[in-house]
Amino acid sequence: MDSANVVPEGRDRVRRVVCPGSFDPVTNGHLDIINRAALLHDEVLVVVGANQSKHGLFTVEERVEMLREVTSGLKNVEVGTFRGLLVEFCRVNGVSAIVKGLRAVSDFEYEMEMAQMNYRLAEVETLFIAANPVYSFLRSSLVKEICRYGGDVTSLVPELVYERLQERLGSG
Ligand code: PNS
Repeated sequence: MDSANVVPEGRDRVRRVVCPGSFDPVTNGHLDIINRAALLHDEVLVVVGANQSKHGLFTVEERVEMLREVTSGLKNVEVGTFRGLLVEFCRVNGVSAIVKGLRAVSDFEYEMEMAQMNYRLAEVETLFIAANPVYSFLRSSLVKEICRYGGDVTSLVPELVYERLQERLGSG
């Protein structure tokens, strides 16, 4: 094998990946990406960014707990948190690639910037999974808004998340 193909020490080929996000809360769109990443890779670390934890509807711990419950059937998925730079989390945990879902062109510019910056900072790759079109409009902030004003989000989030949203935002 050509020496240019040798993987640097402490890194692997895309065996272990990270799926980062705010997950406030996890939606069916997130779950679709996590499921598909788990089919492609040996280990998937789903991590909640804890840098701005005060602004969320759910605490970081609550988000982690929901993620753990809804991914409990996926044996190669682990859920945790990270603080600071994502590339630093990747370095410490021997992760060579970030997996992100791309919903629409509107995601592209922001995601591309982050992907290029993360590569520039630490040569961490970003792999994009094209979102299932049935979830292309779906984001946590919209789910919260719809729920806040009494709309039906049952088909957009796992049942457990729906219950937590009702407890926190529902009128009843
Ligand atoms: O679900 P989100 O809000 O799109 O997730 C964004 C997240 C947490 C993945 C992103 O903000 C992030 O990676 N934050 C960690 C800080 C960092 O590394 N910033 C530099 C990005 S180039």
